[in-house]
Amino acid sequence: MKRLLLSCLVLVLTFSNLRADEGMWLPFLIKERIAHMQEKGFKLTAEDLYSINKASLKDAIVHFGGGCTAELISNQGLILTNHHCGFRQIQSHSSVEHDYLKDGFWAASQKEELPNPKLDVRFLVRMEDVTDKILDSYKESMTESQREKIVATNSAKVVSEATKGNHYEAKVESLYYGNQYFLFVYETFTDVRLVGAPPSSIGKFGGDTDNWMWPRHTGDFSLFRIYAGKDNKPAPYSKENVPYVPKKFFTISTKGVNEGDFTLVYGYPGRTQQYVHSEAVRYILEKSNPHKIKLRTLRLDVQRAEMAKSQEVRIKYASKNASVSNAWKKWQGESKGIIRLNTVDKKVTFEEEFNKWAQDKPNYNGLLRKISLLYSKLEPYSFAIEYYNEAIIANEIVKLARDVSYIVKRGSKMAPQVLAKNVKSMLENFYKDYYLPIDKKIFIAIVNEYDTNVPNDMKPPYFRELKEKLGSVDKIAEELYSKSLLADSNKVYRAIKDGISNSTFTKDPAFVFFNAFNDNNLKNIKPITDKIQRELALLYRTYMKGQMEFAKEHNFYPDANSTLRIAYGNVSGYKPADAIYYKHYSTIEGIMEKDNPGIYDYNIPQELRDVYANRDFGKWTQDGTVPVCFVATNHTSGGNSGSPIINADGELIGINFDRVWEGTMSDIDFDPEMCRNISLDIRYALFIIEKVAGATHLIEEMNISQ
Ligand code: ARG
Ligand code: ASP
Repeated sequence: MKRLLLSCLVLVLTFSNLRADEGMWLPFLIKERIAHMQEKGFKLTAEDLYSINKASLKDAIVHFGGGCTAELISNQGLILTNHHCGFRQIQSHSSVEHDYLKDGFWAASQKEELPNPKLDVRFLVRMEDVTDKILDSYKESMTESQREKIVATNSAKVVSEATKGNHYEAKVESLYYGNQYFLFVYETFTDVRLVGAPPSSIGKFGGDTDNWMWPRHTGDFSLFRIYAGKDNKPAPYSKENVPYVPKKFFTISTKGVNEGDFTLVYGYPGRTQQYVHSEAVRYILEKSNPHKIKLRTLRLDVQRAEMAKSQEVRIKYASKNASVSNAWKKWQGESKGIIRLNTVDKKVTFEEEFNKWAQDKPNYNGLLRKISLLYSKLEPYSFAIEYYNEAIIANEIVKLARDVSYIVKRGSKMAPQVLAKNVKSMLENFYKDYYLPIDKKIFIAIVNEYDTNVPNDMKPPYFRELKEKLGSVDKIAEELYSKSLLADSNKVYRAIKDGISNSTFTKDPAFVFFNAFNDNNLKNIKPITDKIQRELALLYRTYMKGQMEFAKEHNFYPDANSTLRIAYGNVSGYKPADAIYYKHYSTIEGIMEKDNPGIYDYNIPQELRDVYANRDFGKWTQDGTVPVCFVATNHTSGGNSGSPIINADGELIGINFDRVWEGTMSDIDFDPEMCRNISLDIRYALFIIEKVAGATHLIEEMNISQ
């Protein structure tokens, strides 16, 4: 009895119970959750959310640029996403003369909308459980590599069947560590144009100071438009293309939210690790996060100092700086959360209980010991790989050497001039946003860190010899940043003027440097980690299955993997600490309280001050003021940015864009008390579009219900 009680307790502690809104559900299986959703207030049906027989809300949602989500809000292909999701595009159209980051951008008509060659959006056409097809002819007695071959062959078959005679793309994804396989069929559009974005002082208000935090006042939205060929099918960019007519688009509700209201977030969360072993979490907490945070602190310090000196550099590094800073800050919150929730110990207790349960089950007995042993073998290699990514490839010139090497290798059969043209266009793209002094200073800082923290036997022999020969990392930097062709755009353009041959870059110090690390990875690190990862994959598949048998009453959902998911919950404030309660929404009053021309992150545009002074809020108000953001209990992750957040009637009430600081560990451990997603209230976006940007034609294009 005691043991039974203990296991119940462990289960409750480990899998935060069901009352809570944990879970990212597959739309295809949402019928299994719909009763629970309706109990919580949802008024639509499973078919309204996902259907292959009729237009459903899934048809109004796109995966935006592979890393964010966006939603259709008009019958002319208009899509809404976050400012930070469109940041790179806004930045790429900006210069000191046309600083759309600073001043915002609003196309006065469709003709003025700006194309974005590297951006695509994709719709999910359908998904299907193909587990039986993928595992056809697989037998338990086979080895893992035999299984991999079968999975690859069968996946290719399933994909080719799904894409025969149509213009779709398809992918088979493994769920629950390979216990299930799903097919996802997509339709991709590549002509996606920038329609509008507020100035960063609205769209990124609060900057990295407020990022990952509540209370929040960021007007994090931007607008794009999908263009299609005359037949409404995807077509490469052309002036002749026309706005895409979607199967479905969202009706916008200006009713707003009250605490307790039902909310649903429909989008593309990237990656979560809810079911990992305690050792994996311990590694993140004790090694991975602290080292990565330190390395990024060094990078940010250099970037910030240089960006403060020049507007040109500030524009060039705006997007790079934001992405370095974003993960840097998240890891800090995540570590705090893991400590507060005691995730490692909780997992250890769970594993002890699992082991007891497994004693008489040959499939599971001894499994966890094997996993933990593999982790101890893997750890030094994972550490070296993380340093490679965060301290070696993080140097722009080294990364450029890598990228150029790849094109040159892939183009080995091309005419030298054609190859040179391809490389040149990549280089031009690179130099547009490059400032060598930042790169060089960062190199010195982080490569020194690499040298100090990575054990010698994990370093490339070349690096050790070079350091010995030259005496210091500073000297290595000197060599690379003065002698490499890549350090000087004119020199490299001259060198490739007549074409690229195999030997153009072979002696170049940046390439030699990159190749040394690459070879070391390929020879000494990757084969070992691949082997361990493969063994781990096999054990995890069994462990996942075991967890599902052991904790039967828990409703399992597959870890996020950049596939379309539904998360549902309620609008809710929270208690971040003793004696504090955070309300569920923020208003424009808070923007005015924070407004400070002397602080970059809080310096709002004068237009907003004027509109506020006149209290010219239009119809975008609640209780006499303009609501800005709100928090709810939806389980979201990176990639959910830009996702529609919808009310019980399926209307759009906001755009998801972040999570609260106290809940940033939700990718690993979801705490119903603290985990909140942050959304922009749609009324603030509409207020900015109408009253600050004056883009009323866009408002007229939307379908707004009162
Ligand atoms: N934290 C949010 C997300 O993970 C928003 C990030 C915007 N970027 C920034 N550095 N402020 O993407
Ligand atoms: N800001 C994140 C994104 O860009 C969302 C999150 O991590 O909560 O997807």
